[in-house]
Amino acid sequence: MENESFTLNFKSVPHGTETSKLIYFKTTQDLFDCFWHSFRRNFEEIVIVTDEKIAELNDVKSFLEEARKKHAEIVTIPTGEKNKTFDNVFVMLNKALSKGFSRKCTFVALGGGVISDMCALASSLYKRGAQLQIIPTTLLSMSDAAIGGKTGCDYGDYKNMLGTFYPASIIYFCPEFLETLSKKEYYSGLAEVIKTAMLYDKELFALLKSEQKKIRDRDSHILYEAIKKCSIAKSKIVEQDITEKDIRRQLNLGHTFAHALESVAGFGVIPHGCAVAWGLSRALELSLNLGYCNKEYRDEVFELLDMYGYCTKSIPDEIKNLEDASTRLIEAMRQDKKNEPGKICFILQKGVEDTLIINVDEKQIEKVL
Ligand code: GLY
Repeated sequence: MENESFTLNFKSVPHGTETSKLIYFKTTQDLFDCFWHSFRRNFEEIVIVTDEKIAELNDVKSFLEEARKKHAEIVTIPTGEKNKTFDNVFVMLNKALSKGFSRKCTFVALGGGVISDMCALASSLYKRGAQLQIIPTTLLSMSDAAIGGKTGCDYGDYKNMLGTFYPASIIYFCPEFLETLSKKEYYSGLAEVIKTAMLYDKELFALLKSEQKKIRDRDSHILYEAIKKCSIAKSKIVEQDITEKDIRRQLNLGHTFAHALESVAGFGVIPHGCAVAWGLSRALELSLNLGYCNKEYRDEVFELLDMYGYCTKSIPDEIKNLEDASTRLIEAMRQDKKNEPGKICFILQKGVEDTLIINVDEKQIEKVL
């Protein structure tokens, strides 16, 4: 069976595979058939990592039954960000260690960003690096988290503080998984699609404006195209700069504001993508104030974000009753791990596909909060 695919060739990788193959499927049945086809024998060493919610989906249940018959090991982690801990990474490592698996074993992440980040971290550590494949099941992981080799887990209150760069050799995409997402999860992922379109794809940006109804209705044909465009656009960036020294930093458009909001509101209160959407509006307001973009582009982005129901106000309702909300946001921005000491670095835009990275004075940031 021939499916559409794209091969990502990394310019340099610190650790792990030098290529990632992205394969796109219309149905999960085709995806799972192709997955099993990639293993030559029934008794290969495989650890499948998923979460309790995904494991209950009908298609996934039969996939896991088949996996058990083929003697794959299955690790099921409780759902949610609070379980993104090193203890759970160790549960995955322990499963492979207790079975005596070699470094040729394959860790397979079946889930959203929490599962794929942790499973990829386990794979990168296991005997100095095992095989890794990812089956992303959320829009956020299909458009962003699963691509480009970032691995990690949280440490206390610090998000993604422990991690490595370790790309998957195969990533399997299918929009059918998106039918099962809650509205909150779906719109959280859609914000990353909007971000990628603003950065790298005028056509996708236009599609997000013109096909609003179909996108809201989760039309599988449109989502298939959107996922393919987003994942390929991101791939073309990370293949040049996997370790985020240069061009990959652009992918943080909206994220300095978003991480600050998530931290001030309390982790988990605002879904990551909704914080990113708000961050996109703040980044555009800042771009306008600093004279980088014109009012037309700022308004075009605001209209798109409003159309999908995201918050574009200077201070979101969730934190508007906090005393000194804007001071606390700026304080949180100073902690962003991507900053250089003493500076707050922002990704701003002049227009679609026209991006710049600059350090901004805190007084200017106050004006957009
Ligand atoms: N999520 C941004 C990146 O992968 O670099």
